[in-house]
Amino acid sequence: MPDIESLLKEKRVFKPAPEFTRQANWNKKTIDEYRKLAARSPERFWAKMAKENVSWFSPWKKVLDWKPPFAKWFVGGKLNVAYNCLDRHLEGEHAWRRNKAAIIWEGEPGDSRVLTYGELHREVCKFANVLKGLGVKKGDRVCLYMPMVPELAIAMLACARIGAPHSIVFGGFSAEALRDRINDAEAKVVITADGGYRKGAGFALKPAVDEALDGCACVTDVVVVERIQNGTPMQSGRDHYWHELMKDASATCAPAKLDAEHPLFILYTSGTTGNPKGILHTTGGYLTHVTTTFKAIFDIKDEDVYWCTADIGWVTGHSYVVYGPLANGATTMMYEGVPTHPGPDRWWSLIAKWGVSIFYTAPTAIRTFIRLGDDLPKAHDLSSLRLLGSVGEPINPEAWMWYHRVIGKKKCPIVDTWWQTETGGIMITPLPGAVATTPGSATLPFPGIDAAIYDEEGNEVPPGAGGLLVVRKPWPGMLRGIWGDPERYKKTYWGTFKNTYLAGDGAHRDKKGYFWIMGRVDDVMNVSGHRIGTMEVESALVSHPNVAEAAVVGRPDDITGTAIVAFVTPTGGTDAGAALNQTLRGHVTKEIGAIARPAEIRFTDALPKTRSGKIMRRLLRDIASDKESTGDTSTLEDFSVLAQLRESEED
Ligand code: WTA
Repeated sequence: MPDIESLLKEKRVFKPAPEFTRQANWNKKTIDEYRKLAARSPERFWAKMAKENVSWFSPWKKVLDWKPPFAKWFVGGKLNVAYNCLDRHLEGEHAWRRNKAAIIWEGEPGDSRVLTYGELHREVCKFANVLKGLGVKKGDRVCLYMPMVPELAIAMLACARIGAPHSIVFGGFSAEALRDRINDAEAKVVITADGGYRKGAGFALKPAVDEALDGCACVTDVVVVERIQNGTPMQSGRDHYWHELMKDASATCAPAKLDAEHPLFILYTSGTTGNPKGILHTTGGYLTHVTTTFKAIFDIKDEDVYWCTADIGWVTGHSYVVYGPLANGATTMMYEGVPTHPGPDRWWSLIAKWGVSIFYTAPTAIRTFIRLGDDLPKAHDLSSLRLLGSVGEPINPEAWMWYHRVIGKKKCPIVDTWWQTETGGIMITPLPGAVATTPGSATLPFPGIDAAIYDEEGNEVPPGAGGLLVVRKPWPGMLRGIWGDPERYKKTYWGTFKNTYLAGDGAHRDKKGYFWIMGRVDDVMNVSGHRIGTMEVESALVSHPNVAEAAVVGRPDDITGTAIVAFVTPTGGTDAGAALNQTLRGHVTKEIGAIARPAEIRFTDALPKTRSGKIMRRLLRDIASDKESTGDTSTLEDFSVLAQLRESEED
């Protein structure tokens, strides 16, 4: 594979402020020690973290059993994730947390609920008993298909309490996608809601479950949270209302003493083919990874109000809305609806209302807000913020700078965290009290994570050269497999380099050793023998003041191999687009070089995205090369966007 050329030249450096470093959970000295320990022995480092940050019923006998590509962590150890997230905050030195807010929830219509650790513990115990009453046993899978309501977190923790792995299916998926996932996991029970609120109106969810269950023989019972009271039809014998089952449930439920390798959850994610993979995570290693990273990277304190805007239906919600924060005894916020209801400043008003101090979101959201203008955040009091985070895709330097300037008021460190559904927790990230940041770089691997960049032969590439992002040693939060498909697990992640995990991302390291993630390798184009990250061209495009958002894909070309096609959302609307065509090509040439100049620019009002905000490049590639798009489109945010793009041929 020829080098992926690194064309970004970002020189700005932001050192941690001394005031921040002084109070950081992990200061420079701690981190130096940990890095040294982890370099000598990642196992000893992780064992130390497991002891310090997680409570065990019985200790492990062996830290790691590694029979590539199958890992077992903390072998023989016994613990319970719900105990770690709840019970231990009600005892001993932390007993005062009984009346601390565990979850601050706000519904889209403006209703809210605050669940203290004491209350959350009671609700979880009750629902665990409800599940037991429905015949759910240790090891049985439970499917959760819900809006962002507190019952979703309660149901997850109840599953964890009794050792029933959950499989959360994002509420935006279709009935068909839900059916496939229920069948693949062979779920016994489905937890859902009559609906939820989005864009100012109630939407129904339960009908999709009814439709999905038409083709599912494994499901015996459905539990329905009443959220929008739309009188959804209930099938007698199968469907039960949450509140009715909870009425008489006992609030006493001992946490199951589970093996460290007991499955905690399955989460489906898209691969390069149409059918999703059920990524399997287990108990002890996963909890150690998310609890440790959360404490160190988000610098959590008891006084903080932490808000991660991800939907719990995605891995970010699992690890950093629920498990990581609650295991640390933190206050975690959940918001039900869209960022733009009732006005485009809802998020900023939420930060001001609840005094959010740590805010974790995605670049796609940041770019959307840039387009909406600085006046919206400026109209709200964001002074409670002290730390910002980014996740999900590479953050382009301009978005990073806006985040830093307009949201962080130049005083909040930004942690750009690279990780995946498969990695369970954060892998590459700044540590806010110790690592200087540079816009666009996720900086350094977390201690105990052995990340590297390989060329196609499996040699580590020199600084500046691009290659494939890999992880050379097992880590505690790593996936344990693909549910029901060990062969696909071996081939997808471990089949390219011996005993080495292939992340599927292209990246390069600079002279300081900082990592720059350039997006999925399947998003890397080969233009006239040069490999160019789509992200780099996009970054150049969005650095132009008239561009709100851009997505770049390759189209087969007789002469250059691949021609670059850019889909651009101009700030001034698509009508202004045509005039921009030459300007933008010139701009990209100036920012990167003529090699990266798009052969074609199409202007559009919106880009097709998954509900989690990822641009669906596969669809754009089809449109760019004028093919009918095939494959799974169940994650599309808005189908009409697609049709519009097909019509928007360049003039
Ligand atoms: C991308 C989300 C650059 C990457 C947690 C990865 C990122 C994929 C970053 C996983 C980041 C995530 N910088 N790229 N900080 N974070 N990605 O499984 O391509 O939904 O492989 O997990 O998102 O997406 P997933």
